[in-house]
Amino acid sequence: MSANKDFKPSTRLVHAGRRSREYHGVVNPPVMHASTILFENLEALDKASPLPHGKDFYGRHGTPTRFLLEEAIAELEGGYGTLCVSSGVSAITNAILAFVKPGDHVLITDSTYFPTRNLANTFLKKFGIEVEYYDPTLGADIAGLVRDNTSVVWCESPGSLTFEMQDIPAIARAAHAKNAKVLLDNTWAGPTLCRPFDLGVDVSIQAGTKYIVGHSDVMMGTITAATEEDFNTCIKQVMISGDSIGPDDCYLAQRGLRTLNVRLRQHHESGLAIAKWLQGRPEVSRVLHPGLPDDPGHAIWKRDFIGASGLFSFVLHPVERPQLAKMLDHMDLFGMGFSWGGFESLLLPSAPKNIRTATTWDDPGQLVRIHVGLEDTDDLIADLEAGFERLKSA
Ligand SMILES: Cc1ncc(COP(=O)(O)O)c(C=O)c1O
Repeated sequence: MSANKDFKPSTRLVHAGRRSREYHGVVNPPVMHASTILFENLEALDKASPLPHGKDFYGRHGTPTRFLLEEAIAELEGGYGTLCVSSGVSAITNAILAFVKPGDHVLITDSTYFPTRNLANTFLKKFGIEVEYYDPTLGADIAGLVRDNTSVVWCESPGSLTFEMQDIPAIARAAHAKNAKVLLDNTWAGPTLCRPFDLGVDVSIQAGTKYIVGHSDVMMGTITAATEEDFNTCIKQVMISGDSIGPDDCYLAQRGLRTLNVRLRQHHESGLAIAKWLQGRPEVSRVLHPGLPDDPGHAIWKRDFIGASGLFSFVLHPVERPQLAKMLDHMDLFGMGFSWGGFESLLLPSAPKNIRTATTWDDPGQLVRIHVGLEDTDDLIADLEAGFERLKSA
């Protein structure tokens, strides 16, 4: 599609990264499998290079099925270029490793997804990188923590499990004043609900496993950089890691992408309806959803996002494990398991208290993360209502 036309996100979602005319007119980009890619002659072999990324070279670096998906995500997030990798965690790992060296200091939001913390506490520390966690709600005050050797400020907004919103433009100003890169786990918003590069982000990470794929059947991560220079830094790191993603998975992600807008619109509407219903329940002490007007992060959400996804948390009044099992083990519609962003609803009990270090999570209640899927909200509410009745039963 024409890059310089100001199309709306739903239009871009349908047309980005298809190039049907170059592929026999087929609507969805074809699946091209390859390890070996043959060169015409010795001269072509001598000239061949995996860089710049996106050319025929060797299967590990991708085939057009992957390159077209990368083109679509870059266009949707508004970045210079995207790299698709084998999982969200691989995207996080490769993006951070691309910008750090021994002796550096990195700042990581205390609300980050746990495996990001795991990478920082093990691998980064092992290679002489100092890791400091910060309060996700710091905003401009993060300037007091950014040092001359801070290379990365890692953000995730809203935060995993607890959904604090971060003032990304204020954080980016403080980070850039000391030449640190701002990396954002932007998975909650998918590639359309927030424009990370307009907020000052340098590299945006998506666990494509969630809303891009949208059907709970593919693992994928994406790394999108704002500039050519940062994109090249990321591709060199991904090449060193040997990470690769197969064309079947890229094809499924392309399919998922086309319906992202209608799915997200429904996740937004149903999620907010259920969040409001939960606020009125006596079993629930609070609901953590930035789209709710009384949420502490609501003003930032309204400023920086055009909608909400279907993922948030609620806190039950303190409950013993066997009582919780009575509720969760017998849900008709809500499944229990890791990940989110598919078409189905999920519940996941979690304990942020055991994870935090820069801030404390001292709520005695039981936190439950909820993903509101595409089922009818009346049916989902009836399922939750029956679950709450079981919670109360002796
Ligand atoms: C916010 C966030 N980022 C990253 C990931 C990692 O994605 P993946 O499971 O594809 O490795 C997850 C997975 O749950 C997540 O919730």
